Amino acid sequence: MRNVKRWNAIYKQKGRTYITSLEHLNEILTLFQTYSVKKVLDLGCGSGGYIVSLAKNGFEVYGLDFSIEAIEVAKSWLKEDGYEGNLELASIYKELPYSDNIFDAVISFRVIHHAKIEDIRKLIKELERILKPQGLIFITVPKWRILRKKVGNLEMFDSRTFILKEVDQKDVVHYLFNKKLLKKEFKNFKINTLRINNGYYTKDNLTIMEQYYCLIGKKRL
Ligand SMILES: C[S@@+](CC[C@H](N)C(=O)[O-])C[C@H]1O[C@@H](n2cnc3c(N)ncnc32)[C@H](O)[C@@H]1O
Repeated sequence: MRNVKRWNAIYKQKGRTYITSLEHLNEILTLFQTYSVKKVLDLGCGSGGYIVSLAKNGFEVYGLDFSIEAIEVAKSWLKEDGYEGNLELASIYKELPYSDNIFDAVISFRVIHHAKIEDIRKLIKELERILKPQGLIFITVPKWRILRKKVGNLEMFDSRTFILKEVDQKDVVHYLFNKKLLKKEFKNFKINTLRINNGYYTKDNLTIMEQYYCLIGKKRL
């Protein structure tokens, strides 16, 4: 699958890289202390920046990513720093390899929008299954707008789902959330925060700024 190859190439080249930096770490630590979180899953954990930082702060950490290179880097990083973790090579859009009601929190940074809405819905159901009652989610997704003049670069499936026609992006599906859709799809969560943040990522040695939605919520009882 070309998408996996692309991520493997990135992690092979960059190793311990934070695609999205650790911009939410302090907020997460405060939140997790407030809600007495112990067991946490990072969906699309990449090379493990959050996992290692959370392990250092005493949390029981789990991570899942479909890039073997990312998982290998995350495993060796945890081991080298003397921490234990549970890392799985899997897709977030398949049945998640965890029992029901086991996590106090799930975090996921700019990952879950990479599918058609039917698959994202299945993932959200899986999150509801693996989280304990009142379990926390801290999720970010990009806030993009499709401008009419750019449509030539995109293959649109419908008004909110597209593939970029760039060579390295073929097969990478993007779903465009907005606040209303996030509220609708996460209706089984009580939303504490739904805001727009400015974030940065690096691509081809360029730092690119993008806005993204930041959703913090609690699974309803
Ligand atoms: C934008 S990066 C974010 C990585 C990490 N969360 C961070 O903040 O640095 C997206 C990550 O999602 C992973 N990913 C993309 N699609 C995936 C899928 N279907 N299943 C599992 N992981 C996926 C990629 O391998 C990559 O590590």
